[in-house]
Amino acid sequence: MFLEEIAKRRTFGIISHPDAGKTTLTEKLLLFGGAIQEAGAVKSNKIKKGATSDFMEIERQRGISVATSVLAFLYKDKKINILDTPGHKDFAEDTFRTLTAVDSVIVVIDVAKGVEEQTEKLVEVCRMRNIPMIVFINKLDREGKDSFDLLDEVESKLGLRVTPLSHPIGMGYDFKGIYNIWNKNTKLFLEEDKQTKDNTVFFNSLEDPELERLIGNDSLQTLKDELELIAGVYPPFSQEEYLAGNQQPVFFGSALNNFGVQELLDCFIDIAPAPLEKEAEERMIQPDEKSFSGFIFKIHANMDPNHRDRLAFIKIVSGTFKRNIPYLHVRNNKKVKFSSPNAFFAERKEIIDISYPGDIVGLHDTGNFKIGDSLTSGEQIHFKGIPSFSPEHFRYINNVDPMKAKQLNKGINQLMDEGVAQLFTLSLNNRKIIGTVGALQFEVIKYRLEHEYGAKCSYENLNVFKACWVKTTDDKNDEFLDFKRVKQKFLAKDKQGQIVFLADSSFSLQMTQQKYPSITFHMTSEF
Ligand code: G4P
Repeated sequence: MFLEEIAKRRTFGIISHPDAGKTTLTEKLLLFGGAIQEAGAVKSNKIKKGATSDFMEIERQRGISVATSVLAFLYKDKKINILDTPGHKDFAEDTFRTLTAVDSVIVVIDVAKGVEEQTEKLVEVCRMRNIPMIVFINKLDREGKDSFDLLDEVESKLGLRVTPLSHPIGMGYDFKGIYNIWNKNTKLFLEEDKQTKDNTVFFNSLEDPELERLIGNDSLQTLKDELELIAGVYPPFSQEEYLAGNQQPVFFGSALNNFGVQELLDCFIDIAPAPLEKEAEERMIQPDEKSFSGFIFKIHANMDPNHRDRLAFIKIVSGTFKRNIPYLHVRNNKKVKFSSPNAFFAERKEIIDISYPGDIVGLHDTGNFKIGDSLTSGEQIHFKGIPSFSPEHFRYINNVDPMKAKQLNKGINQLMDEGVAQLFTLSLNNRKIIGTVGALQFEVIKYRLEHEYGAKCSYENLNVFKACWVKTTDDKNDEFLDFKRVKQKFLAKDKQGQIVFLADSSFSLQMTQQKYPSITFHMTSEF
């Protein structure tokens, strides 16, 4: 029973550059799962362009992103958990953290735009962690790039090794259907009513005369030639290679028109991995171990400023998580139990009694949890792979109202635990520096400090290019002591007390690296 529950689960994330069709695809997947009844039910969680200082928009986005953080549904006896990732680039770090909780990923690419910047960054993270990836090339109902050119682009720009599992028949105005290489059949989309689900015809053989009648001899011949080319050029699909992160199957379709989405989903539930083992500092943790373990990858502050409780999202790694059972919060070394843990189903959340590996559970928290924390049945387990990345923007943060210093500190600490930004304290004078991925976060922090903690802050610009975590084999040797003395002005501590070098330019970083060869400078906090 326990093993069957694990084998049923598929926990994944959809990543894309904004506007490629992530929300639309999510919605169509939910429609197939019967989790929602009509299109338009999943609200887009993106912050509209140009809304940098529109706080209502930020608040709206926060509301929606709680609702769509996890979208779970059943499809053909599989329990699918889709983890939502924010589209806005200023929230990229949220996405990176969410990727620590997925077992596989679907990458959506716009057929006309091809591989875009945000996709490159996100895929690179997945590639580094060998996360199995499926590529979905979307918007085939529009004129776009040639499918073979796109496959080349995906290989060269994303560094993937692809093998197509479906192939489009025509494109844009001439888009007629999809050949499913995985199941070796053809699905045509009839013209009249493209938006409905059942308006398709199936062919099990390319030799069926009816197929030729419907798409014409020329299209059929082109299809046959292209399939021959695919068979000659691309390696056959290997599930082993896919699971190892060495090969990425590609599907074509149009999410908006529901073309090729079911093919994607049907293949996905067959090939995508069930919950995987996870590396901890102490050892590897297997999902089928009896004792419970899990880690927090996301914390969401409550929308209601009068109740400062938060929802911490935990991914179950092993064993079962049960309601009202005390578990060890490893960092605080305290036992905690939860009377109302939430499970997520499409847009509802419900109190659950038991959850299995692969599941995401929402825990009410009054400020004890921090991203990366683990909960276990009792074992000391520290999961790896939730690093902090060097922020891109840095500012001093000052207290504007001296009477509210306590509130400000509490607010800053809690927002940092949520992962909104990173806090560095300068070694020289203890001034606090906030580092963020996007400029938008400064506005969010200021707004939330005021509205949730009653504290006021101001910012002061600071010229920092990158924050590098510093490591040396011997912190007593002359070189390191010299580094600490000479660069004192640029040294800070992160929240864990690790030493960070705040380089003011790429040139000064290079010079420092050259001058102190025994010291390594890392762009992430985990190395
Ligand atoms: P995102 O979450 O990746 O940012 O993308 P989203 O699904 O919101 O899609 C971005 C835009 O692309 C939307 O149009 C959506 O309707 C459109 N789209 C998605 N899939 C397809 C497709 O297969 N074909 C075509 N032609 N368009 C597609 P919008 O005008 O920005 O938004 P909306 O007003 O339709 O909501």
